[in-house]
Amino acid sequence: MSDRTLVLLKPDAVERKLVGEVVSRFEAKNLDIVAMELRQLDADTLARHYEEHVGKGFYDDLVAFMSRGPVVAMVVEGPEDTWEVVRKMMGATNPRTAEPGTIRGDLGILFTENLVHGSDSLASAEREIGIFFPNL
Ligand code: TYD
Ligand code: MG
Repeated sequence: MSDRTLVLLKPDAVERKLVGEVVSRFEAKNLDIVAMELRQLDADTLARHYEEHVGKGFYDDLVAFMSRGPVVAMVVEGPEDTWEVVRKMMGATNPRTAEPGTIRGDLGILFTENLVHGSDSLASAEREIGIFFPNL
């Protein structure tokens, strides 16, 4: 039984040329990348993706950041609980408090520019994969 989650390598990761570094970590963990695409996100796609955050104080800054350059959208697959495995590898939302050894803890400093998105539940993974890769 395979299990999938959505990962976005955010514009800061692309700008800083950390795509290879982050993809390497998923590969080293023996996760499978079953879809991957460089894509410029628009406001409508971001509103669907971040629907639980629309209207919050940080939302406009989040959209500006997430659309300032392309992201790498990926579907990552593992044996089970893949969303949870990926979230653990990402570390806490704020890179300043994220543990060393995690992607955010090792590579980031700023709260908004935290390099990576990963779905936060199985239901979120299915919903978000449907937004980015409706044909999967
Ligand atoms: P959230 O879904 O809470 O975090 P995560 O990415 O760990 O699932 O928030 C989405 C993004 O919004 C988060 O990665 C960074 C940004 N953000 C802020 O800029 N300020 C905030 O107060 C929060 C909660 C999030
Ligand atoms: Mg989230």
